[in-house]
Amino acid sequence: MKDTQIKKLIEAEKKRQKKAINLIASENYVSRDVLEALGSELTNKYAEGYAGKRYYGGNDIIDKIEELCIDRALKLFRLDPNEWHVNVQPLSGSPANLAVFTALVPRGGVKQEDGTTSVAGKIMGMSLDQGGHLTHGQKVSATGKFWQQIPYGLDPVTETINYDQLREIAMKEKPTIVVSGYTAYPRIIDWKKMREVSDASEGLMMVDMSHIAGLVAGGVYPSPFDYADVVTTTTHKTLRGPRAALIFVKKDARELYKKIDKAVFPGLQGGPHANQIAAVAVALKEASTPAFRKYANQVVKNAKVLAEELEKRGWRLISGGTDSHLILVDTWNDGKKREPLVKDAAGKAEAGAGAITGKEASERLEKQGIIVNKNAIPFDKRPPADPSGIRLGTAAETTRGRKEKDFKLIAKKMDEILRK
Ligand SMILES: Cc1ncc(COP(=O)(O)O)c(C=O)c1O
Repeated sequence: MKDTQIKKLIEAEKKRQKKAINLIASENYVSRDVLEALGSELTNKYAEGYAGKRYYGGNDIIDKIEELCIDRALKLFRLDPNEWHVNVQPLSGSPANLAVFTALVPRGGVKQEDGTTSVAGKIMGMSLDQGGHLTHGQKVSATGKFWQQIPYGLDPVTETINYDQLREIAMKEKPTIVVSGYTAYPRIIDWKKMREVSDASEGLMMVDMSHIAGLVAGGVYPSPFDYADVVTTTTHKTLRGPRAALIFVKKDARELYKKIDKAVFPGLQGGPHANQIAAVAVALKEASTPAFRKYANQVVKNAKVLAEELEKRGWRLISGGTDSHLILVDTWNDGKKREPLVKDAAGKAEAGAGAITGKEASERLEKQGIIVNKNAIPFDKRPPADPSGIRLGTAAETTRGRKEKDFKLIAKKMDEILRK
C-alpha cells in the first residue's frame, strides 16, 4: 500500500486485535478468504437491481456471485427455495431492519385514496435497556420515528422473557409486527411461543437473529425458520462473515418478499456492494462445514465455562447464566457489596466481588488487554453512558482456538482486575 498513513493505522489496528483478548459479543475474526473477497476488484462494479434485472451493463459475473450467495444462504439454514426467499443486498443490520418495516408496516400521515390519513403501524420490540436493539422501534432510531414502538421487557425476577405477558400486550395493542431476537439476551428464545405472541395480535413474526445466526447455522441454537415470517441477520457476529446483512422472507400468497425486495432497492439503497456479497458467500460456505459446527459448539461451551467461573467468584449474571455465546454481568448490583462466595479449604471466604460500574469495569479491563463493552442490565437504575453491567461474548476468542481451560483463566484474570 502506497498510502503510508493508512497503512500504518491498519498495521496498528492489526496489532491491537492480535494482542487483545476480545470479549465483544458482536465481533469476530473473519478468514483470509473473506478478507480477499472484500478487498477484491468487485468493489469497482455498479449493479443496481437484482440478478438478471440490472440497471447497468457488464453484470453477468456479479449476477453469478449474487445467485451463489442466495443459494448458499438458503442451503446453510436448510431452507427450500420454493418456501423461502433471501435478499443478500442489505449493507448492514440496521438498514436490513429498516427495509423490513418500510415494506411491511404502514407509515402514518399518508393521504389515502378515500381521503383519510393513515395511522402509523406498531412495532412490538424489546426495549433497549432490556436487551433489544435500537432498530426494533427505539425512539432515537428512524424505526421509532416513523413507527410507534410497543415496548416489552423481561420478567423482573427471572430476567427472562415472560411469554404470557407478551401475549397480553400483543392482544391489547395489536402490533403489525412483533420482533424477537436481541442484542443482550443470553438465553434461548422459544420461537413457538413468540409465534403465539404474533398470532395473538394477528400480526407478523419477525426474528432478528443477528447475534445467534452462527449458533443457529452450527446447530447449537434452535432455528426460528419453522415459525417466523421474516428473519433478518447481520453476517458479522457469530456467523463470522463480513459486515453485511441478509433478509429471509417466507414465500406464500402474501408475497411479502416482493415488498421487501422493493424496500431494499430502490426504496433504501442504490448499488449493492458486490465485494461484500462475495465475502458473505465465502463466509456462508465456511459456516456450512463440520468444522464450523464444531466451532459453534465450542463457542457455547466456552460461554458456559466463563459464566460459571465468574459466578463462582461472586459476580451476578443476568438470568443466572447463558445458553449462547453471550453473558451479561451485573457489576454494580445496585451498589451493594456482594457477599463473598468463593471459599478456601478451611471454609473461610476469600474476598468477594466489589461493586463497580459498567464503564469503570470496561475501562479497567481494557487497560489490562481485555476488551468488553459496558452494557445496561434489565431495569438498570444507572444511566446508559455509565450503566450497571458489562456484556461478554465468546465468538471471537473461540475463533482463535481458545477452549474451556483458557476461559477459566480469563475469568480468573477478569475477577482479579475488577476486584482491585
Ligand atoms: C440484534 C441486532 N440487530 C441489528 C444490529 C445492527 O447491525 P449493524 O450494526 O450492522 O447495523 C445489531 C448490532 O449490534 C444487533 O445486535
